[in-house]
Amino acid sequence: MRPLMAWPAICLIATMLAAGCRHPVPAHAAVAPPRPTQYQLRLGRSVFAAYCVPCHGDAGAGDGSNSFNLDPHPRDLADPAFQKAKTNADLADAIRRGGAGVGLSSLMQPWGHTLNDRQIGAVVVYVRSLKR
Ligand code: HEC
Repeated sequence: MRPLMAWPAICLIATMLAAGCRHPVPAHAAVAPPRPTQYQLRLGRSVFAAYCVPCHGDAGAGDGSNSFNLDPHPRDLADPAFQKAKTNADLADAIRRGGAGVGLSSLMQPWGHTLNDRQIGAVVVYVRSLKR
């Protein structure tokens, strides 16, 4: 092959290499939590219904059947200001370690022995879905 004829091939390879490098990685990829799946939402809803509704209420408003026994009352988990103030890690921490573990009321028991990480992750996703 004469040197001149090699140029188109070299150009083609160079273009392919350059294109390969240009796959943009979104800047938020590392921090944005993955979108919750329907499975997580369903699992979270059933965990919440089984363990949390008696105190926190169906919609997380803090008006469950047992809430009047509690002082302080469970707070409104659906409140947008509360939702904004807390990260998923904060919520998971409070659920896993209980109120006493994070400086809140010990009437909120730790769930880390009852629920596994998958269930805690799912119930956090569900609590997020309660936001008004
Ligand atoms: C026995 C009643 C009771 C049950 C059952 C209960 N909680 Fe709580 N929870 C509370 C109370 C009371 C507080 C508020 C504590 C405080 O403000 O000092 C609380 C606080 C919380 C918080 C933290 C709110 C904050 O201010 O950061 C989260 C999140 C939470 N509960 C989620 C859950 C989830 C999820 C479940 C079910 C797995 C659950 N709770 C079950 C009573 C309960």
